[in-house]
Formats: sequence, structure tokens, C-alpha cells
Amino acid sequence: MNKILVTGGAGYIGSHTVVELQQNGFEVIIVDNLSNSLIEVLDNIHSITGIKPHFEQFDLADPRLTADFFTRHTDLSGIIHFAAYKAVGESMEKPLGYYRNNLMSLINLLEGMKLHGINNIVFSSSCTVYGQPDELPVTENAPFKPAFSAYGNTKQMCEDILKFTVNAHPVKAIALRYFNPIGAHPSALIGELPLGIPNNLVPYITQTGIGKREYLRVFGNDYPTPDGTAIRDYIHVVDLAQAHVVALRRLIEGRSKTNPEVFNLGTGNGFSVMQIIEAFERVSGLKLNYRIVDRRAGDIEQVWADTGYANNELGWKAERTLDEMMASAWRWEMALEGR
Ligand code: NAD
Ligand code: WQD
Repeated sequence: MNKILVTGGAGYIGSHTVVELQQNGFEVIIVDNLSNSLIEVLDNIHSITGIKPHFEQFDLADPRLTADFFTRHTDLSGIIHFAAYKAVGESMEKPLGYYRNNLMSLINLLEGMKLHGINNIVFSSSCTVYGQPDELPVTENAPFKPAFSAYGNTKQMCEDILKFTVNAHPVKAIALRYFNPIGAHPSALIGELPLGIPNNLVPYITQTGIGKREYLRVFGNDYPTPDGTAIRDYIHVVDLAQAHVVALRRLIEGRSKTNPEVFNLGTGNGFSVMQIIEAFERVSGLKLNYRIVDRRAGDIEQVWADTGYANNELGWKAERTLDEMMASAWRWEMALEGR
């Protein structure tokens, strides 16, 4: 059986990917320091798949601990690297913490791979590397724009680290640039766990719907878009998770066309903030309390993916609709309330 290390596997996207990997016959080892996740996630993965993943709790930014891990696990077929800090605003207040965590954890993993002949890595990148693209939909060939945040810059730098490392060592990499992942597993056993006040739109909406927040602030309605609110490409987290299984198989089977290979993971459709609110109201039957406020600093106007390369080359396509995304997010919020 193929043994896969999933870093950050207790987190939002990682936990959904662990489920898909297990359901596709992979044996999963999770490393997570639980800096942004809870240990209960492991039991919930077990409830979905019937398999409890092997778990180790340590900080991948620590070179000694990471090196030690590799001496104990020399038979890995590949790594999916989710572990990172991801809060854009926080990265502006603590840039060094973000550079240390996000760059060091990747470097430590690549050192271990080099030393132990582990050749395949899937890396979590982000559409944030594009900034506000000149052309929409944005293709993988669009240039990086100067980063708006230290977080975004860590993703650009990590992609550069991969680019130079695969030239020098027998490592093969796929960088997946996620657009806006939302929603939760249909079981409502795993989902996004924003600790504290959410920064992202959908958890803020569901928390407002359930009564944890008084109202949603809609950041700007004077953008040059049809309804004036900003546009993003929202993708169901289960579609996203499934793309990781496909990408990993491509690496293991040696089918990559370039190294590193880069794919956009989105639906190819843009939705405005108002369309997201309307979808929430449709699936929940509630009226959402919201107020229009000023634009949020650092936000881009609009972005959505050209998914042609991912669809044709990976043979993968996001299938779930916006209403399915919002319905699953809402079921998850209600399940959290009931716990
Ligand atoms: P998350 O915070 O839910 O999961 C990340 C996990 O990594 C957490 O469980 C955290 O405890 C762990 N972690 C962080 N630093 C670690 C370290 N040094 N050692 C060990 N474990 C560590 O985030 P997510 O939304 O699941 O994101 C996963 C990846 O996808 C991240 O790399 C993120 O930057 C990227 N990404 C996320 C989004 C998004 O909107 N959620 C969009 C684009 C890219
Ligand atoms: C979506 C839209 C907001 C909250 C961020 C990161 C990006 C990627 C995904 C990791 C925007 C509006 C939001 C609110 C609002 N993460 N909004 N009221 O900013 O597109 O992307 O997460 O790589 O790098 O920047 O996502 O969910 O924060 O915002 O009106 O309370 O919702 O202005 O237009 P964003 P988001």
C-alpha cells in the first residue's frame, strides 16, 4: 500500500484530503502541531472512513524533529504538504512568524526527502500568488504580482524554493493553487474550524446565521462588478480534496509534464459577495443580517480560475454547485452548535 505523509492533516483542507486518500486505499500518516486544529478531528476522520490515521504531533519548522521523523518513516511514497499559517491579516502583524513557519517547514521536508529518497510532493499554494491578475480567467502562466501580504509572499517563495530544489535533486513537485475553498464534508463530521473571529466570508456568514455574530460586514459595494461587490472563485473543499488524490497519483506514476507542475484548483466561475449571501439565504431559509461597509485593505476586486489545464491534464473537474457548498457549510455550522 502507498504510504503518504499528510502535513497539516488535522486542518480544514488536510482532514478532507485524508478522508479521500483513505477511501482510495492510501495509508496516511498525519503530522500536525495542532496550532490551528483539534485532536478530535482524528476521531471524526475515523468515524467517516473506519480508519484512524497514524498521527504525530510536532512542529515541522523544527529541523531536528522533522529529521527524526524521516529516520522513523523511510518508506513514504509521497508527501502532501498543507501545514502552514494562513491568516492574511495576522501575517502583516507577525511576518517573521509566517516566514519562519511556512518556509522552514517546507525546507525541512525537502531536506528529509533528499536524504531518504522520497521523491513526490504536492504543495498547497494559493491564487493569492497572482494578486489582481491583468486577464481573467487567470491561467497558471500569469505572472506573480507583488504580494499584498507576508502570507501571500510565503506562497510565492515556497513555489520558488520548489522550482530550484527540483532542478538540483530528484524531487518531483506539484503546486496546487487553490482559489477559495469553502463548505464541509457531507457527513458534517469535519469542516472548517475558525478559532476566534473568522476572517473568511463563509464562516462569518454561517456564524452570523447561527447567531454567534450580530451581522456580516460586506466589504465594499463600489467595485467594478455587476452588483458592486467583489468576485471570487469558490470551490467545494471535497472537490479540492479529490484533486489532491489525482495529483498524487500523477506524481507517483511519473506522468507529470513539467517539474514542478502547477495547477489552478477552482470551478472557473466567479461569484460576488452578494451572490454568496443569496445562496446562503436560499439553502438555510434564513435572512442574513448584513451591512455594507468600506472595502477591506488589501482585497482584490475579482479573480476566477482558468481551469482548462487542470481539467484536461488531471482529468479532474470541480463538480459541486454553489448551493451544495453553502448547504454543507451550514450543516457543519449547525453540527458545531450541537456539540
Ligand atoms: P488549517 O489551518 O486548517 O490547516 C493547517 C494545519 O497545519 C493546521 O492543522 C495546523 O495546526 C497545522 N500546522 C501549521 N503549522 C504547522 C507546523 N509548523 N507544524 C505542524 N503542523 C502545522 O488551514 P487550511 O485551510 O486547511 O489550509 C491548508 C493549506 O492550504 C495551507 O498551506 C494554506 O496556506 C493553503 N491554502 C488555504 C486556503 C484557504 O482558504 N483555506 C486557500 C489557499 C491555500
Ligand atoms: C472573500 C470575499 C471579501 C469577509 C483569502 C486569502 C487568500 C486565500 C483564501 C489562502 C472578499 C469579502 C469577507 C467578511 C466580506 N487563502 N468578505 N466580509 O480574501 O478572497 O482570500 O482566503 O491562501 O489568500 O486572501 O477570502 O473569504 O476573506 O473573502 O465582505 O466578513 O468576501 O472582501 O471579497 P479572500 P475571504
